[in-house]
Amino acid sequence: MKKVSAEVNGKKVTKEIADHTLLSVFLREVLNLTGTHVGCDTSSCGACTLIVNGEAVKSCSLLAAQCEGAEVMTIEGLAASDGTLHPIQEGFREKHGLQCGYCTPGMIMSSVQLLQRNPNPSDQEIRHALEGNFCRCTGYDNIVKAVQWAASQS
Ligand code: FES
Ligand code: FES
Repeated sequence: MKKVSAEVNGKKVTKEIADHTLLSVFLREVLNLTGTHVGCDTSSCGACTLIVNGEAVKSCSLLAAQCEGAEVMTIEGLAASDGTLHPIQEGFREKHGLQCGYCTPGMIMSSVQLLQRNPNPSDQEIRHALEGNFCRCTGYDNIVKAVQWAASQS
């Protein structure tokens, strides 16, 4: 067992967990933050993407113990405290960027990092940034439009 302390969506958390606990499992099963989805557990689908210390990462490929002292942001931490959606969340709603929604948290968190680094990305740059995120409903065109909509709001 190992004690891990991190800041998750702005709140300090300290938990004792098994050494081999994946970050995705830690969030979903220990902290009950089930907005981070798990689609493959083999670092392929991107459904589990979130942000650790400013970097989008696949949380099924990281141990929770590696996040000691880190700042972690999940989809639950994206909207403002009064419930106002993040522009990318709004974009997915405006442009019908989801169907079943399984891939959506990961798509959104990858898009957050993209727009932080490139506030006005081209269609190609959006598609490149989302290469690691799979949508089984194949809604890619509307996902790109959602990110473009969010970019146009800044
Ligand atoms: Fe992590 Fe698929 S669950 S990449
Ligand atoms: Fe269903 Fe993307 S909306 S997997």
